[in-house]
Amino acid sequence: MDQSEAERIVLDVLESIRRAVAGFPVAERAVWVATNPFNDDTFRVDLLAERAAVKALENLGFDGLLVSEESGRIRMGEGGSVVVLDPLDGSRNAIKGIPFYSSSIAVAEGPEFRNIVAAGVMDLVRGVMIYSRGGQVYINGKAASPSRTTALERAYVSILLKLKELLNPDEYGARALRVLKRVGYPRLFGSAALETAYVAVGLLDAFVDLVPRLRVFDVAPSLYLVKTAGGCVRVVSPPTLDDLPLTGEKRIAFIAAGNEGLCEEIYRLMRPF
Ligand code: IPD
Ligand code: CA
Repeated sequence: MDQSEAERIVLDVLESIRRAVAGFPVAERAVWVATNPFNDDTFRVDLLAERAAVKALENLGFDGLLVSEESGRIRMGEGGSVVVLDPLDGSRNAIKGIPFYSSSIAVAEGPEFRNIVAAGVMDLVRGVMIYSRGGQVYINGKAASPSRTTALERAYVSILLKLKELLNPDEYGARALRVLKRVGYPRLFGSAALETAYVAVGLLDAFVDLVPRLRVFDVAPSLYLVKTAGGCVRVVSPPTLDDLPLTGEKRIAFIAAGNEGLCEEIYRLMRPF
């Protein structure tokens, strides 16, 4: 597959999902369908989004392995390419009609993070797409860069942490409090993929997942976007990102920030010592 083919897959699949979800009434979205292979609930809207993606990939003649949250691995030919997809990120928002949910996809020429060649995240409510093209990151056709803010006191930072974890004085709670005490503008919107992609284009200064909670398909596309845009990604668990298997179920704890300075500042506060 050449580079432009990979980039076309990203745009076509995301646009197909956007159209399918937009035409689906909120009242019908929450019908429970199954427990997915990653032990999470699949609602009707998740399945609809995944089906739209599979159809788009078939139309594009994709030859490889699709790893998608609702169905797990789907073989679509013998090729070695891998597509990692979260058809709907922020399902709980989508079924309530809270207007913040997204879809994310990465295309790779092999089974590890380092093999990703293109990625994108679509804001399914506003139709805003953040995607890579030729080593740059764009937001709806406009080249974008991550933020240069280095002071936590001035930073907009999403921190993925439940209140009960924060109040628990174990190591996560203590680390989170150390970070939160300093952050100027804490945020959490409910779609980790879109929030991490916001870091790539400078809308958020950082996104932090303190507890290893998010899985590969939740954030691999956005982390690729942050790195491609020149931002900083520091994985806390597992120890490295490049050899992370795209087909696995590993949970990831990480800091994604607009620049090294902010990344280091958060990492320093998060360290368990
Ligand atoms: C969820 C979103 C959300 C995060 C949850 C994830 P899903 O993904 O990323 O922001 O807080 O932990 O499970 O289930 O809607 O794909
Ligand atoms: Ca999902």
